[in-house]
Amino acid sequence: MAAGAPDMVGVIGAKRDGRELSGEQIRAVIDGFTAGSVPPEQMSALAMAIVFQGMSRHEIADWTSAMLASGVRLDLRGLQRDGRGLTTVDKHSTGGVGDKITLPLTPLVASYGLAVPQLSGRGLGHTGGTLDKLESIRGWRADLTADEMSAQLADVGAVVCAATADLAPADRKLYALRDVTGTVASIPLIASSIMSKKIAEGTGALVLDVKAGSGAFMTSYEDAERLAATMVELGTDAGVATRALITDMSTPLGRSAGNAVEVAESVEVLAGGGPDDVVELTLALAREMLAAGGVTGVDPAENLTNGRAMDTWRAMIAAQSGDPDAPLPTPRHLHEVVAPADGVLSALDALAVGEAAWLLGAGRSRPGEAVSAAAGVTWHIGVGDRVRRGDRLFTLHTDDEQRLQRAVDRLERAAVIAADGESPGSRVLGRVG
Ligand code: URA
Repeated sequence: MAAGAPDMVGVIGAKRDGRELSGEQIRAVIDGFTAGSVPPEQMSALAMAIVFQGMSRHEIADWTSAMLASGVRLDLRGLQRDGRGLTTVDKHSTGGVGDKITLPLTPLVASYGLAVPQLSGRGLGHTGGTLDKLESIRGWRADLTADEMSAQLADVGAVVCAATADLAPADRKLYALRDVTGTVASIPLIASSIMSKKIAEGTGALVLDVKAGSGAFMTSYEDAERLAATMVELGTDAGVATRALITDMSTPLGRSAGNAVEVAESVEVLAGGGPDDVVELTLALAREMLAAGGVTGVDPAENLTNGRAMDTWRAMIAAQSGDPDAPLPTPRHLHEVVAPADGVLSALDALAVGEAAWLLGAGRSRPGEAVSAAAGVTWHIGVGDRVRRGDRLFTLHTDDEQRLQRAVDRLERAAVIAADGESPGSRVLGRVG
């Protein structure tokens, strides 16, 4: 039943002064905002008070439940293949630059007999969107009905598609408001946003990839760990077996950020190659997902080298009308940035690389804007590698030459070349759950 109209001025004042909101107040706020009776200016003020004052565990749980209750909750428990029930397990990343892991990971885990329902979003700002990347494959479609999604899960075991408008609509509306009011970076708001959608999606188990570093929402390890612990608790309380890895996002992942360039790199991983850090993270998350789904005694590296994960990828793309053999779009303009000095690449700033890819046309600044499939940045060396003056550092890909200069400027200080530098350690920094 819908809660009564909230006293918004009272609720905002209470949170501003650091008081705990009741479950009834929270339900009334979320219901009112979803229905349109709580106006955006009051919701923005409340979101900003939450950014500064935080929320208690009770409040976060109530906020998440209210957002979950604003829409439908899918039930995937009846999925079957060959008369046997299928276990569902999903992964969610808090978002980072060059984070294409969903692309190789989903078919890899499905190739071991689990069902992976990946309801994904589009990119906004400097972090790319999985659907935008996959849409660079000719014919591929993101929008599936709930029945199509279930049929594909039962058949192929892997699906990556757009979340329908009826899953946690309160979050959809609130996220758009937070994005333009400087209220994204808040642990209670991020945790409730992600978990309301993931619980609504109906997965049995969930592995979270919580990023820490300059290219992530959480720049410090401690904040990433607190976010991970909050989400693991919300998932577990809702009956979803949830665990999290905390992973490094101080440098961008792999060697590419953009759309088609990230698909190409993912296909390399599925063919048994690809950058070491992308392979490492794909395998670390695959191990967690397989364990969460009850598959033991397997080494996921095997299905990357024996072609099984690639077979599932091809089936997954074809099931959504995509042509896995079609050439990927190429940009009208390429521009190279070379190393200004001899030395070692000692740092590569993830945020700067993500913003350069966005400036080249890979991302959008408003919901609904078109993105360029061919736009992006590739880098030719990794942190710890030695370079000589004049060696290629970056290649910029764009369809619009006018976009080049700002992206070049943004990359100017992104790569630090020093006399010495160390190779980065593992991408996996810690785990929760
Ligand atoms: N991703 C989400 O879905 N929500 C947030 O608040 C942040 C990242």
